[in-house]
Amino acid sequence: DASDLLRSSLLHLSDSSLVRSTIEKAPVSRHVVQRYVPGTDVAHAVQAAAELRATNRQVTIDYLGEDTLDAGQAAHTVDTYVGLLRALKARDLTRFGAAEVSVKLSAVGQALPKDGEKIALDNARRICEIAHEADTTVTLDMEDHTTTDSTLSILAELRKDFPETGAVLQSYLHRTEADCKDLATAGSRVRLCKGAYKEPASVAYQDAEDVDLSYVRCLKILMAGEGYPMIASHDPRLIDIARALASRHGREPDSYEFQMLYGIRPEEQTRIADRGHQMRVYIPFGEEWYGYLMRRMAERPANLAFFLRSLASK
Ligand code: FDA
Repeated sequence: DASDLLRSSLLHLSDSSLVRSTIEKAPVSRHVVQRYVPGTDVAHAVQAAAELRATNRQVTIDYLGEDTLDAGQAAHTVDTYVGLLRALKARDLTRFGAAEVSVKLSAVGQALPKDGEKIALDNARRICEIAHEADTTVTLDMEDHTTTDSTLSILAELRKDFPETGAVLQSYLHRTEADCKDLATAGSRVRLCKGAYKEPASVAYQDAEDVDLSYVRCLKILMAGEGYPMIASHDPRLIDIARALASRHGREPDSYEFQMLYGIRPEEQTRIADRGHQMRVYIPFGEEWYGYLMRRMAERPANLAFFLRSLASK
């Protein structure tokens, strides 16, 4: 239908460099970007983290960037995470993992044509070491389906030294129930989301309802298992189901957590935290906000109208 068409057009636009440069050059609607991305620098991210902590929310911080084909850029990303983790620790924000980081392996070298997987592993290991020194953790974001096997194998390597390293699984993929079974083990942190990339029918459910049903099946596996489920969704129905499953399995409030994105349903975030649940907010920061923002627009075309209006009014 029309909304599917719009969604898939927006996901295509997220790959369009012409549209990207046009929007970036426009005196863009800074406040629209800022609703989802608090700023470009480490200092902005740390400030946003401190503000969320003050309202009882935990955070995971992502330095924006993906699919780099430049080893120098990958090294810059690692340095930025190192600086970020040290700045968070200096502000006493990392204690008990209150502020952690999320890393896209394609930003630290996974897509490099030569030795990409090895470079990404080494770079991610360095970030895990610094996170460990700061008493906190790393979660590996999940990207498009062509990277899933590589990301899960890098995760397994990292977890030999840093068992607290988290994974992300996407319920839109057919394979994900099986991946949940593999990862529902003691000490394993798994963030379950619906999935945000444009994927073919050969590997992914295309219907929103099928994605939701798969989410529930995956959630049942994770909640019944021994691991630490992280329910990453703004969907009220899925959040209710997660709460019911947690209580059915007698889970204590510190044995799972809810997660939402910065700027999305902020009142609901504080409401869930105030009810005694753990709520962690994913904060993206950096210059490379374009692909991230387009995926958020694709999820909710109403935001697109808001975005275009603000472009026109500048
Ligand atoms: P859905 O999109 O169905 O939204 C449910 C409701 O939430 C909507 O009806 C609306 O009320 C509200 N809502 C949703 N999006 C909104 C928006 N943009 N603006 C305003 N309201 C909105 N994906 C991925 O592929 N790899 C990853 O590593 C991650 N990581 C990740 C971490 C965290 C903490 C979160 C919350 C999400 C991700 N995602 C992700 C993104 C995820 O896959 C998914 O695309 C989005 O979370 C949207 O799906 P929902 O489950 O929120 O449901």
